[in-house]
Amino acid sequence: MTNNAIVNADVTKGVINKNIYGHFAEHLGRCIYEGFWVGEDSDIPNTNGIRNDVVEALKNIKIPVLRWPGGCFADEYHWKDGIGPRENRKRMVNTHWGGVIENNHFGTHEFFMLCDLLETEPYVCGNVGSGSIQEMSEWVEYMTFDGESPMANWRQENGKQEPWALKYFGVGNENWGCGGNMRPQYYADLYRRFQTYVRNYGENKIYRIAGGPNVADYNWTDVLMREAGKLMDGLSLHYYTVPGEFWTGKGSATNFPEEEWDVTMQKAYYIKELIEKHSAIMDKYDPKKRVGLIIDEWGTWYDVEEGTNPGFLYQQNTIRDALVAGVSLNIFNEHNDRVQMTNIAQTINVLQSMILTDKEKMIVTPTYHVFEMYKVHQDATKVSLDISSDKFKTGEKEMPQVTGSASKSNDGTLNITLCNVDRENSSDFNVDLRGIEVNHVTGRVLTANEIDAHNTFDNPDNVHPVEFTDFQINETILSIKLPSKSVVALSVK
Ligand code: AHR
Repeated sequence: MTNNAIVNADVTKGVINKNIYGHFAEHLGRCIYEGFWVGEDSDIPNTNGIRNDVVEALKNIKIPVLRWPGGCFADEYHWKDGIGPRENRKRMVNTHWGGVIENNHFGTHEFFMLCDLLETEPYVCGNVGSGSIQEMSEWVEYMTFDGESPMANWRQENGKQEPWALKYFGVGNENWGCGGNMRPQYYADLYRRFQTYVRNYGENKIYRIAGGPNVADYNWTDVLMREAGKLMDGLSLHYYTVPGEFWTGKGSATNFPEEEWDVTMQKAYYIKELIEKHSAIMDKYDPKKRVGLIIDEWGTWYDVEEGTNPGFLYQQNTIRDALVAGVSLNIFNEHNDRVQMTNIAQTINVLQSMILTDKEKMIVTPTYHVFEMYKVHQDATKVSLDISSDKFKTGEKEMPQVTGSASKSNDGTLNITLCNVDRENSSDFNVDLRGIEVNHVTGRVLTANEIDAHNTFDNPDNVHPVEFTDFQINETILSIKLPSKSVVALSVK
């Protein structure tokens, strides 16, 4: 069978929310400290304490939204410890992540400064698990109240005259687990109560995100939507791609057998089923799809790199991760009617990161390159793409060999992204381009010879996108040879 696809560029399917390309930064391992924050006195070039090299690299992938401060950390974070003169800030133990001392040098002001530098929208996650309603409500007042009030006055004393604009606010994180081990009925009531005091001040209108289910906990979604659906704008979903077993051995990021590639791809595809099943429950209570499904933690999770702190979740990133990113982003684009935001975990030095740092050195990962190649889909108009794909079969496992997305940008360019998950075989792929006049096609490809190809501090460009020319155009038919284990981005003008 030949793989083929039909693009109907004049059949549109809504906008792909740019926030699908969002990110997540937690006070975990070396994500905030060393990753983003080095402090003003560092020899590493920085702007008010934030590394210039990472800002420059991340601006290149156009981060639309950044979630902070956790994760599990959010439910033990007390924001008042992270404001005012840094030398006076309280120190705490980061009990979730390695038991290290958190000096609170990176707090609310630093986070908004980072978002300004990145030109990204902030998404703050509040503390339900160990915090109070008053604490949450005062945080929102501190950040967004314009006028005379105890919190606004305090913010001004700390150097910020005008309030910040804050749209996205999470009412707790993983409240079924590290955020309080709650039952859904209990959390639904707490959510109703806490969100009441997450006020909209002046023009600032907050999009409230309720703590959603873990993986396939459909009951959680049902209870939350039934009891609190009307009081939320978004419901989160967390799903990690773990090739092995979470508690007994997740598998190595680099040193893995071929079968682990296959199982990783299969588990990456599973997010499609999760989205569709959770969405079907949401449809019951919200048929107009007002409430967004916010996949605010996703990505690969392996065993940590040898010799690193197990609580720091530092892992390498290979061409396998690039395929997981490409497949997942294609699935999110496909479900743009319900998926309004996603946040890959996590931006720097933690889990499936964009960037790895080693003191003053910095490299970008294969996953970073996928986000760069896909940025054309941000806020673009999705167009109809029907793919008939061969199966990538391996042992008992079977999955589509090729997935894709197609969208049209404002200037009329048609952008197509395709992933071939087969680790051995290329794919001859025909795309019938309808509803568009085809004058010029260009492409880029990210691929590698080895299944664990990755970038290192000594070889930082081992995996990077190159020009792709292995295609021909005959009238409306674009015939492509997709290399094995590849992500391809095509622009049709
Ligand atoms: O991203 C790492 C952790 O995974 C987050 O802190 C938590 O929310 C999830 O379990």
